[in-house]
Amino acid sequence: MPNSSQKPLITVSGASSKQGRSVANALLASGRYRVRALTRRADSAPMRRLADSGAEIVVAPLELGHQTELIAAMRGSHGAFLMTPPTTPVPPPGQPELALGRELADAARAAGVQHVVWSGLENVDARTGGAKWAPHFTEKALVEEHIRTLPLRSSFIYLAFFYSNFLEYYVPQRGADGSLSFAIYLPPDTPMPFVDPLTATGPAVLEVFDYPEKYAGETLPVIGEILTARQMVDTFVRVSGKNAHYASAYTRKELLQHFPAFGASECLVREMLGMVEYAVEYGYYAPERDVGWSRKIDPDSLTWEQFLRRSEWQGELMSFGAPPASA
Ligand SMILES: NC(=O)c1ccc[n+]([C@@H]2O[C@H](COP(=O)([O-])OP(=O)(O)OC[C@H]3O[C@@H](n4cnc5c(N)ncnc54)[C@H](OP(=O)(O)O)[C@@H]3O)[C@@H](O)[C@H]2O)c1
Repeated sequence: MPNSSQKPLITVSGASSKQGRSVANALLASGRYRVRALTRRADSAPMRRLADSGAEIVVAPLELGHQTELIAAMRGSHGAFLMTPPTTPVPPPGQPELALGRELADAARAAGVQHVVWSGLENVDARTGGAKWAPHFTEKALVEEHIRTLPLRSSFIYLAFFYSNFLEYYVPQRGADGSLSFAIYLPPDTPMPFVDPLTATGPAVLEVFDYPEKYAGETLPVIGEILTARQMVDTFVRVSGKNAHYASAYTRKELLQHFPAFGASECLVREMLGMVEYAVEYGYYAPERDVGWSRKIDPDSLTWEQFLRRSEWQGELMSFGAPPASA
């Protein structure tokens, strides 16, 4: 076992996020890496827990305009896990996520990082010939294109839809009869990949840093289970004991009927619809992706049923992240 100062240092951006926490925890638990965890706020509960686990905490916001701090924060790191936070879409030609992703990647390069793992997604614009608009996919893919031009080793993970979306953003609503209307942004019977980012991201990134040459230039889907919306609701009913039924939030009318608050941002609605129509009509992943990879390297990756049993979710609103910086 190398002594502490000989272990490679990996910088984890968004370290308090679901993905970032998973990565930091997996790297630290392996005993093979030191972790530098970047955040806007060192005193949040997730960051204090990471510090207790041995991470070095550095304040460097995951925001545009912080290049100098990001370069300083990544200096001395062998590797970096780079990701973007949830970003509100803006009308074209604005590309805020692309700008932030480039800033992160350029900072890694300037800091002398040798291996970057970027949390990306497919290029929806290219895959659909511009027919669907899902900037939080496409801009990540454009960041990937940029990273591939940089003189460093790079690998790319593509996370499936998060199970936690239904706990954080699309929470089931109670109807007049007391049953839960579990509104899902997908048609009932279309199989779709889902994952628990809090437990599945770390093992994937650890595997990449453990075998850097094997994964140089690779694009790797991270999936817990491929299942339909109806199966998700049926499993929820069986595990939670709650009376719930599937409702469609796939069309604009249905989405706004179930989640009227989204209507405050037309761009957000357009992006949500573009994303799900893309996933249903073209497939979430390009056909050449190895959708079995993450289960091979992490057989314990949670299925939806295991996620429900572990979280003991009963259909209520839940938060997984640090509270907003303004809180
Ligand atoms: N939801 C899905 O189904 C899905 C699927 C695939 C990929 N993704 C992608 O996953 C990413 C989000 O990952 P996640 O859910 O793991 O993140 P998350 O849990 O929402 O956490 C995001 C972190 O980023 C920081 N942050 C949040 N808002 C910020 C802001 N306005 N400015 C600067 N920093 C901010 C916060 O860290 P500090 O407060 O510590 O700074 C926060 O802990 C997005 O890029 C999304 O597109 C999502």
